[in-house]
Parts: sequence; structure tokens; C-alpha cells
Amino acid sequence: MRTLLIVDDDRSVHLLLKSRVGADYTLLEALTVAQGHEIIATHPEIDAVVLDMQLPDGDGLDVLTAGLKRRPGLPFIVLTAHGSVQGAVEAMRAGAFDYAEKPLDLDHLSTTLRNALAQSDLRREVESLRETVRNTYGFDNAIGESRAMATVFRVIRQVINAKAPVLLTGESGTGKEVLARVIHFNSARKGQPFIAVNCAAIPEELLESELFGHEKGAFTGAQQRRLGKFEEARGGTVLLDEIGEMAPRLQAKLLRVLQEREFERVGSNSRIKLDARIIAATNRDLKVEIAEGRFREDLYYRLNVLTIAVPPLRDRKEDVPRLVHYFLGRVREREGTDIRSVTPEAMAVLQSHNWPGNVRELENTIFRAALIGDDSTISIDSLPPEMVDAYLAGPTPTVAGAVATAGAAPTLGAPTAPRGAAGVGAAGATVPRTLEEAEKAALEAAWARGGGNVSKVARELGISRATLYRKLRQYGLIVAGAGEGDEADAPPEIEPA
Ligand SMILES: Nc1ncnc2c1ncn2[C@@H]1O[C@H](COP(=O)(O)OP(=O)(O)OP(=O)(O)O)[C@@H](O)[C@H]1O
Ligand SMILES: [Mg+2]
Repeated sequence: MRTLLIVDDDRSVHLLLKSRVGADYTLLEALTVAQGHEIIATHPEIDAVVLDMQLPDGDGLDVLTAGLKRRPGLPFIVLTAHGSVQGAVEAMRAGAFDYAEKPLDLDHLSTTLRNALAQSDLRREVESLRETVRNTYGFDNAIGESRAMATVFRVIRQVINAKAPVLLTGESGTGKEVLARVIHFNSARKGQPFIAVNCAAIPEELLESELFGHEKGAFTGAQQRRLGKFEEARGGTVLLDEIGEMAPRLQAKLLRVLQEREFERVGSNSRIKLDARIIAATNRDLKVEIAEGRFREDLYYRLNVLTIAVPPLRDRKEDVPRLVHYFLGRVREREGTDIRSVTPEAMAVLQSHNWPGNVRELENTIFRAALIGDDSTISIDSLPPEMVDAYLAGPTPTVAGAVATAGAAPTLGAPTAPRGAAGVGAAGATVPRTLEEAEKAALEAAWARGGGNVSKVARELGISRATLYRKLRQYGLIVAGAGEGDEADAPPEIEPA
């Protein structure tokens, strides 16, 4: 049954509504603004609200605005005194679904209620569809255009409906779980459950009954029969995550399950058919684990039939820009930020980083940058300073032109001096002896500070872009030919402020 909240100090309105719609709805009743606030806050099951505008302790409008903030889309039907157009207008502007004048026309009111509920149903349906889409992993949810990932996707397509287990290997954060979902949600099993079990997070005894289930009384504390994940996932897929950490005794049990495709609940002798696809994932090198006696070799051979090695992000840096934009989209969706771009310089920093934490680290970096940045663009100021410093201090990146910002020539290399070099006496420890050396040092420092932005550096040094280019070439800080368009004898340009 649907739940309707009535907020009105006039008890006759409650009685009237009860007699008319009491059979169709569970009614919650409030007489004041304060009660209205409280009931909305504590009853997430409310489907619609009938709200009087004039309440003894305040304005009904407050209940409306606070209620909508907490429950966007909750339909409010406001009751206004006869002829009080102003109140109705205000309520509609504040987001009410509709209004009704007092004295109440009950026929009209119950039609309005039905419409309101139809709308909120639709809204819920859309939300649940969105949720399904979010949890359903099409290939679109696994970003990767690099060659390395193209190979991964090709193999995935081949194994999607295979009977044998799939083994996903790769460093932490490379996307093993994402790919397991891609496999499941593109296979014939997609309508059935996908269940991930983290073998590392659960103690051995619990993991056993988690996977296989148990009978009532199988061990102390087993008060009920409980189905295991292998049974729950009937027709679907079980991801055995971090399989490298599974205890040896369970490894033996799992091996039997894979060989015989049958298992027993703990405390029972009857055999249950395994009807779940098994995907295993690990960030450990199972060969090493075998050599050191922590992983069963026979289980490894059972699992290592269809193996997919997910490459670390540092070996597929071409994927970084698409991933960055994908994550910006996700922050927008989740946090309501409105950041849609990344400066070329910040992107160059992101592409040059080594990403020991792989895609997960990149995802966290983007979420953080999007949340702390106050601009509509992510610049190096929103990135972790160590990451930016390492980039500025590091060798010239192979991605030529990646640092060039608007207006700078694409052939520019990265600045060579560390950021902050200017603060420690320009060229570091050595004190410049000639005027030329001093000029070069000042230039280098400004170049590093300006992050390769020609306009900015020229402005800082008080020279034209053309002069800056000439001097950068003269001191070998950029390749010859860069900035030809800004030749020294071109008429001096006027820099925009
Ligand atoms: N190709 C990808 N496209 C989009 N997002 C990705 C991709 N790969 C990884 N991610 C994101 O990065 C994060 C880490 O991915 P995932 O959990 O799949 O990694 P993992 O390999 O299972 O790591 P671990 O070994 O630590 O469990 C997730 O938030 C995931 O959404
Ligand atoms: Mg994982």
C-alpha cells in the first residue's frame, strides 16, 4: 500500500481524507510544521504529501522546501485558503506538484493524488533503470583504446560463453573486477546473479560456509540453513576475488568443485550441482605462490585455462585521457560538479605519472581534483604536488607538445628545471658568473614556473613572446624552429592582459 502524509492542523481535513482515501493509503498524520519535518525525515516510504500552507507554528512552505531537499521529486499537493492565489503560486514555484483550494473538492483531490503517484512511480522506475545500467557492465564501462586493452577485449569476447573458469591476473587497481562484470553482463548468464566474494577479506571458516553454505547445526552458531554463494548465483557468475589468498584447505575443496562440478553444504552429504560460472582474480603471481608453497599447483592448472592478464596502466598510457574524461563524467553524475575539461599541461602530468595504483589511483586523483578545484577545468593546481613536481623535474616526456597550452608552439618540450628552482637561486647551487649565465638561469626558472606557457612566462619576464622564443632557442631550452611564427623581427605584439 502507498503511504500518504497529511500535514494540516485542521483535524477535519484528516478525517475527510481518511474517509475518502484511507482504504487505499497508509496515512501518516502531522498537525504542525515541526511534526511534518520529523515525519518526512523518518519515513522514507512516504509516496506523497498533502500539505496545508497555514500551520500554527509556521509556514507550510518550509515543510515543502525542506522535504524536497531531502526527497527530490516527492509530490506535494498544497492546500490553500479559497482565493489565496499568491500562496498557490509560491508553492508551485517552490516545486509543489499541484494545489487544491479549501474547502476541499475530494473528487478532484483524489484524482490529483493519483496523478502525483503516477509521476513518482515513473520517477522511481527511471531511477531503478539508471541503477541497473550503472550495475550492468557493457563494454562501455571498461574504458580502453590502447593496443594492450584491445587484445584483452578480444580475448574476453572469445571466452564470454565458455564453460571453463576464467582467471584474471594483474596488479591491484587494473580493472579485474570491472572486466569480470563485463564478462558476466555480456554472457548468456547476464539475467542471473553476479556475486563477488573477496577471499582475502573473510576468515577461512566463514569463507567456507560463505561459498558452500551450511546446514542448520553444522557448527556452533549455525542456527539456520544457509545457502552459499555457489548456490545463490545459480545460473550466474561467482567472482572469486583475491584467490591467491585462499587458505590451502579451501583450495583443495574448490579444486574438487571445479573437477566434479558438484559440491555439498557444510554439514550435509547431499551433492548439489554447480551451476555458476567461476571467474577467479588475483593480483599475486600464482607461479611464485606455488613455488613458495602457498598455492596448489593442481588448482592453478584448473584455473589457468582461460587466463587474461590485465596490463598495468603505465604500459597503456594512451588510455589515460579517455579514462580521465570518463571519471570526470562519473564525478559529475555523483557529486554534481561541473568540471568538463583538463588543461593540456595537467593532462601531460597525468600521462607522465607512473600510476603504481593503476586505474584506481587515477580515478581517485580525478575525483579529488574535481572536488577540490574551484575552476571549471582541472589544472596542475588541483593535482597532487608530488606528481606535478616529478613531472616538472623529470625527463622531457615523449608526448611532444602535450605541455603546450593555447598559444604555445606544439614543438615545445617540457620545462627542464624543477618547479621552485627559482626560489633556491635560479639554477640551483651554482652561482651564475656572467650576465649571460644569469639571464639563462632566470629564463630557466621562469620557464619552469610558468609550466611552459609562453604567454605567461613572457609576461612575467616583461618581454614579448617573440623575444622569449628567441632567447629560449639561443640557450637551447627549446628546439630550433619552435615558435617560428613569432620571429624576432616580426612587429612587436601587444600581449592581452
Ligand atoms: N577499464 C576501465 N574503465 C573504467 N574504469 C575502470 C577500468 N579499470 C578500472 N576501473 C576503475 O578502477 C577501479 C579499480 O578497478 P577494479 O576494482 O576492477 O580493480 P582490480 O583489478 O579488481 O583491483 P584489486 O586487485 O585491487 O581488487 C574501479 O573503481 C573501476 O571502476
Ligand atoms: Mg578487485
